[in-house]
Amino acid sequence: MKAIVMTRTGGPEVIEFVERSDPMPGPGEALVKIAVAGVNFMDIGVRRGTAWRETPDPKILGVEGVGRVLAVGQGVDDIQRGQRVAWVYSPGSYAEKAVIPAAALVTVPDEIDDRTAAAVMMQGLTASHFATDFYPVQSGDIALVHAAAGGLGLLLTQIIKLRGGHVIGRVSSRSKIAVAKEAGADDIIIDTEGRFADEAIRLSGGEGVHVVYDGSGPKTFQGSLDALRISGTFCWYGPVLGGPGPIDIMTLPKSIKIGYPTFYDHIHTPELFRARSARLFDWLIEGNLKIRIGGEYPLADAAKAHADMERRVTTGKLLLIP
Ligand SMILES: NC(=O)c1ccc[n+]([C@@H]2O[C@H](COP(=O)([O-])OP(=O)(O)OC[C@H]3O[C@@H](n4cnc5c(N)ncnc54)[C@H](OP(=O)(O)O)[C@@H]3O)[C@@H](O)[C@H]2O)c1
Repeated sequence: MKAIVMTRTGGPEVIEFVERSDPMPGPGEALVKIAVAGVNFMDIGVRRGTAWRETPDPKILGVEGVGRVLAVGQGVDDIQRGQRVAWVYSPGSYAEKAVIPAAALVTVPDEIDDRTAAAVMMQGLTASHFATDFYPVQSGDIALVHAAAGGLGLLLTQIIKLRGGHVIGRVSSRSKIAVAKEAGADDIIIDTEGRFADEAIRLSGGEGVHVVYDGSGPKTFQGSLDALRISGTFCWYGPVLGGPGPIDIMTLPKSIKIGYPTFYDHIHTPELFRARSARLFDWLIEGNLKIRIGGEYPLADAAKAHADMERRVTTGKLLLIP
């Protein structure tokens, strides 16, 4: 099979399109023929060496996708050959085939096509964790969403709107405004320098926002703190772009709450994973959640997908087609 491996840590140039032998499913696993693989910012983190350092190179990148089950290993009885399945956080997904634990698979309803299902897994499960668990948005809440035209930002915006919230989206360029607005963002701030807090406070009627969703690196951290109202919540989630460094808890202002949620804690059992995925699929089928595919690349062009995402020129979800 063909696969995308990283040969060492570094820029997109460390990515290679190679031939690998087909994997075999062991007990509790399924062999899947991949139809679509999702590109996530975390894949860039892996490539840069901020994650998966314990796995030796060359390793196959990618954690998410959709495909058809070709075979199952011993003891797998809830997933059958021929079923269309999706997964999230299963290493080795930038490939034509992958072996995935059966407990990490969900079956995809017929109403949802492969591209939509692949696009909703990581970013959709993350967005639903952030807006329904970590900070359950209430009707009337004002949320500041960073990178609002990105894959995660667009889904987060829609889920906040579904819950009756008001969204102030921060994007890096004018070209992203229409995309963020189409997802439901009420107001947009254009900024790349961390100078958005005053405008967010003004847009929230002078009090600041109830919640800020920030995965945009150290540059935005102080502005996000400043934009919060009294007792506001800071949802920080950007390890790839980097953190603010050590924080003295006594410097935190306005009785705010701050935390680093990871999507996996939302789906840490197979039951939760299937229930949360089913809720996303329902939202898609009912038309409450819309997916924007920002780019489709042949599997061989994974390096280009990474480079485009890092240049901040993409919107929505990027997909690789084996
Ligand atoms: N904690 C979790 O569970 C979890 C799960 C998934 C993702 N994440 C994090 O969420 C963030 C978004 O991930 P994603 O996979 O959904 O990708 P995404 O939002 O589609 O990523 C692209 C966005 O990131 C912004 N960006 C790109 N390069 C940047 C840079 N150098 N500095 C600042 N912003 C930059 C761009 O927005 P602008 O140019 O408009 O700013 C772009 O729209 C990442 O930080 C990722 O690590 C966390």
